[in-house]
Amino acid sequence: MLVAPSILSADFGNLERDIKAICDAGCDLVHVDVMDGHFVPNLTIGPVVVEPVAKAATKPLDIHLMVENNNFFVDLFAPLKPKYLSFHLESEKHPHRLIQKIRGLGISPAIVLNPHTKVEDIEYLLQDLDMVLLMSVNPGFGGQKFIPTILEKTKKLKELINKRNPNCLIEVDGGVSNKNIQELKDAGVDIVVAGSYVFGSSDYKEAIDSLRV
Ligand code: DX5
Ligand code: ZN
Repeated sequence: MLVAPSILSADFGNLERDIKAICDAGCDLVHVDVMDGHFVPNLTIGPVVVEPVAKAATKPLDIHLMVENNNFFVDLFAPLKPKYLSFHLESEKHPHRLIQKIRGLGISPAIVLNPHTKVEDIEYLLQDLDMVLLMSVNPGFGGQKFIPTILEKTKKLKELINKRNPNCLIEVDGGVSNKNIQELKDAGVDIVVAGSYVFGSSDYKEAIDSLRV
């Protein structure tokens, strides 16, 4: 299991220290939540803040856009060369076109699905994707409760992925902890995002290692 701590739960007054700490603790990716106050009822950070984050990080960035104007934000963040740039299917009229654009910028494209969105809706996009991110909470905030129906949804997605593009990874975001990590693994998840679980612990390495099932 790969582990991507979400910096939404980091101490923003000591961001550089926290980014270095999770990288030293052995995380695989640094998950960055970008919220625009329109698509979700919360507002986070732009490139002015993510640029120093990218500099401090010794692990690749995994940028999760929760925005209405995806094109605009893809252009803003592409120069920071994240490993993954993911956008929500629910906010994009032309997902296939945006996937090609992200790939053309040399970044791995990923799509995010809200808890209610059917995996079948992306069946014909899977061949062009490097990752699908399934939300296991409603996007907008850290520290929410895990929605268990995501396990069944992950299994369905895994079947579609096996059929259409076995190289596509499955990431799950929201309410992940040592309590549900084994079920997530068994359902076919490759990468977990964990915010409050990692940053709320007194030992980041121990927390990250506990998710490595
Ligand atoms: C929620 C964000 C998540 C969030 C996860 O919209 O996408 O990345 O930070 O936080 P936890 O792990 O605390 O649920
Ligand atoms: Zn996220």
